[in-house]
Amino acid sequence: MGFPETRMRRLRVSAAMRRLAAGTRVSADDFVYPLFACPGEGIKEPIGSMEGCFHFSADRIAEEAKLVYSLGIPAVLLFGLPIKKDAGGSEAWSEESAVCRAVRAIKECVPELLVITDICLCAYTDHGHCGVVRDGRVDNDQTLQHLARMALACAKAGADAAAPSDMMDGRVGMIRQTLDEADFTDMAIVSYAAKYASAFYGPFREAADSRPGFGDRRGYQMDPAAGAGQAMREIELDLEEGADIVMVKPALPYLDILSKARQRFDVPLAGYQVSGEYMMICHAAGAGLLSRQESMMESLTAIKRAGADILITYFAKEAAELIHG
Ligand code: PBG
Repeated sequence: MGFPETRMRRLRVSAAMRRLAAGTRVSADDFVYPLFACPGEGIKEPIGSMEGCFHFSADRIAEEAKLVYSLGIPAVLLFGLPIKKDAGGSEAWSEESAVCRAVRAIKECVPELLVITDICLCAYTDHGHCGVVRDGRVDNDQTLQHLARMALACAKAGADAAAPSDMMDGRVGMIRQTLDEADFTDMAIVSYAAKYASAFYGPFREAADSRPGFGDRRGYQMDPAAGAGQAMREIELDLEEGADIVMVKPALPYLDILSKARQRFDVPLAGYQVSGEYMMICHAAGAGLLSRQESMMESLTAIKRAGADILITYFAKEAAELIHG
């Protein structure tokens, strides 16, 4: 049966009909909101490269976390800045790091809010790479110890989940083993499983002061041109090593990867709408070229429709307000 009996537009006649026919719903329940913890006290400083985002000292971050939770958002993802950088990134596993102090402050004030901590050395090393450098290259196996110690420090501070974003091989297994041995068997691992060497991290690297001092991250993060099979293999390995939730990052330029991962794996899948994706929309909207709210919701809907259960996004607060407010 074809036209004129079949009319696809019947499903689009009214807002109510469109709502009924929609298969994709974005809700605050899906969101993870990234937050930046910095050393010091009394600090809530706007981040120049990322509209609407701030560096918070531990004493100020809890009030923000409370607001996030009151908007119906279940989780935050914490990034940290150190007081001092060194070659090994040692402040990453200090129990007095800005991140650990922030975790304790948030857990004291809003214990129900899930706190996920990003596990990576790039903000803590003086060369800006995600691991220990030996002979001009990031040494995979030496880096693993450091990452595991960082995850353990976060666990002791009370974090609910560790999210390794470094792209070293074997880090999920090493972190799992370290946490289990210390009796943190309930701490989850949210793995940045398919993470690409992307230009879209630009604004974040300003915010986290984590630009590599030499070279780039292509020796460990995935090649954007690699076939989707490589991403499936990355995800598979992380799951075998004990990842509970797996991520594709960035999100919008990699919807094909999200969609394939959705078909293949029955585990919670996260898409990270990264800083560059966020700032493209902010800037284009600021220039009056597109509607901020509509492009925000369309991009989040697309990431969800492609297969993500979890949306990590700097729009989380704004979108939650728009959807539920
Ligand atoms: C750390 C890390 C990065 C991001 C999350 N964790 C930067 C990078 O890999 O260079 C990017 C997040 C964003 O752009 O929003 N390795």
